[in-house]
Amino acid sequence: MTGDDQNLRENDAALAAALLWQASMGADEAISDAPVDRYAEFAESERRKAERRARPAARAPHSADARSPGPQPSPGGDVAPRPAQASPRALPDDAPLGAAEAAEKGRAAAAACTSLDGLRAALEAFDGCPLKLTATNLVFADGAPDADVMLIGEAPGADEDRQGKPFVGVSGQLLDRMLSAVDLDRTRVHITNVLYWRPPGNRTPTDAEVAACRPFVERHIQLVAPKVILLIGGKSAKSLLGTEQGVTKLRGKWFDYPAGGDLGALPALATFHPAYLLRNPAMKRFVWRDLLALQRRMRDLGLESPK
Ligand code: URA
Repeated sequence: MTGDDQNLRENDAALAAALLWQASMGADEAISDAPVDRYAEFAESERRKAERRARPAARAPHSADARSPGPQPSPGGDVAPRPAQASPRALPDDAPLGAAEAAEKGRAAAAACTSLDGLRAALEAFDGCPLKLTATNLVFADGAPDADVMLIGEAPGADEDRQGKPFVGVSGQLLDRMLSAVDLDRTRVHITNVLYWRPPGNRTPTDAEVAACRPFVERHIQLVAPKVILLIGGKSAKSLLGTEQGVTKLRGKWFDYPAGGDLGALPALATFHPAYLLRNPAMKRFVWRDLLALQRRMRDLGLESPK
C-alpha cells in the first residue's frame, strides 16, 4: 500500500468516526441539500426581533403565563400558551412574529374547526410551527375519533414522521402491548401528541414549538370529547397540566384538565413514556399501576370497560 492509500484510509476512518458521532448525537437525518449556519440564522432572527420591538406597533396583549404550577383554567377553557422563546430558525419575512403570535394565530384557526377533518386541514395550512419545515408528514392522530379515552404523547419520531401516524415505532409497539394488558386497543382510544410534527433528529422540542401546536391540541381534545385523558410522558403532562413538575411526581395522580365548554374538567392521568420504559424496564410496574387506575376510573364512569 502506498503512502497515499494509507492517508486515504485514515481520512475515511476519521470521516466515518465523525459521522458516527453526529448520528449518536441525534443528527441522523439530512434535512437539506446544503449546510445551514444556524448561528447566523439565530443572529439574524434576533436582529429582526429587536427591530420589530423598536417599532411602535400596537400589539395584542399576551395571555397569562402558563408556567405557574398546576392546571391553568382560563376563560373559554383555553390554557394559556407558554411565553415566547427565541427560535433558532430564521423566519421568512411573512412569518408570524414569534411564538406568542403563532399561538394566537393557531388559536383562531383551531377555534374555527368543527370537526377532526377540519382540524387536520387547519394544521396542514398552519405555518406557525417551524417543525413543519423539516418534517416529512403531519402526524395528526390514530384510533377512534369518538373514543372515551384519549392518549396524548410527546412528539412523533422518525417512524411516525414517515407514516404520518402517532406511535407506530418501537415505543408504539410497547404502547399497544400496554393497552392490551388492560383490554384496550386502537379501536377504543384516540391517540395524538402535543406536537404534530417531528423535531429534527428527535431533539427536545422548544417551548415555542409546543406553544404553537397547543391551541390545536386543546381543540383536538374538545372535538374528541373523551371521558378520560392519559398523558404519556413528561412533556405531555407538563404541557397540558401547566406545571413544571417532573413526570415522576405527576404520574399516578388524577388531575382535572380544563377542557372548557360543555366538557368542563376532564380527568387526566399522567404516566411514563414507553420510550422511557424501554430504557428503564424496572419502571414498568409503575405504568402497570397507572393502567389499573385508568381501568378503575373507566369502570367508575360507567364506560364500556376493559375486563
Ligand atoms: N413518542 C411519542 O411521544 N409520540 C409518538 O407518536 C411516537 C413516539
